[in-house]
Amino acid sequence: MSVVSSVTVTVPATTANLGPGFDCIGAALKLYNQFKFTRREEGGLIIIVTGEEAERVETDDSNLLYQAFIRFYQHIEQTPPAVKIEIQIGVPLARGLGSSATAVVGGLIAANQLEGAPMSQSQLMELAIAIEGHPDNVVPALLGGCRLAATSGAGWEICDVPWHKDIIAIVAIPDFELSTSEARHVLPTEVSRADAIFNTAHLGLLLRGLETGKAEWLKAALQDKLHQPYRKILIPGYDAVNLAAVAAGAYGMVISGAGPTLLALTDDLHSKAVQAAMSAAWQEEGITANVRSLSLDIQGAKS
Ligand code: HSE
Repeated sequence: MSVVSSVTVTVPATTANLGPGFDCIGAALKLYNQFKFTRREEGGLIIIVTGEEAERVETDDSNLLYQAFIRFYQHIEQTPPAVKIEIQIGVPLARGLGSSATAVVGGLIAANQLEGAPMSQSQLMELAIAIEGHPDNVVPALLGGCRLAATSGAGWEICDVPWHKDIIAIVAIPDFELSTSEARHVLPTEVSRADAIFNTAHLGLLLRGLETGKAEWLKAALQDKLHQPYRKILIPGYDAVNLAAVAAGAYGMVISGAGPTLLALTDDLHSKAVQAAMSAAWQEEGITANVRSLSLDIQGAKS
């Protein structure tokens, strides 16, 4: 492939952890950020942002999308070109839906396309994981679907996790933010053997529950001892929304990524009731939430 002058990359939102799969499992959802990169003959960086909360996105060289773009050129030991970047935001910022992963993946793919694709998809993935620090958002953002990532020597093994067609994800996105670094800061550095065993068993059950759609397995599987017990105090109304979702027929509810978005899994029969219940429960706590059903994106990033 030859060097090109302009590229547009669309990257899906992601939900990481899914309860017991802390830092190793994530799924791509049908909600997107779009990034257009155009080479400039002269002049410096231009970043134009549109969409919800556009004014909050950095428009200088500290922008994460641009930082990922620069990391690509450092990796291939070339000088980056001057570019104009147009960002169309569809994924809410700092809500646990992988907005930073869209930027990391988008910046790397755009740079790779502009340079005629010198790096393979798996090389881009390894670089994206190194930049983000954990694989569970960037891998499904790049590849689509539900993905499990495990280290393998110096690299990663990525496994696609079958997602039964009847399983519906409901996301409740509140009107407040939670930074991933704050949500990681509250976690203990060590866990007990009992908690490690609990999560190992429940992640195994989750994988089979997602594949089969079996209600009993999913109901038990969405529990976690590694991060949610520590993080839920950062999310006002967590217990009330959880109770409401389950009472309305959800298999269970988890924190999406590092939060504060809450994600329930359910089936078609209960999805409207679960949405209404989560919305009402948060409203009672004085929190407005955008509650919606999102289906699985199976394509991943597109350019
Ligand atoms: N696995 C990460 C965490 C996802 O829970 O901190 C952050 O988006």
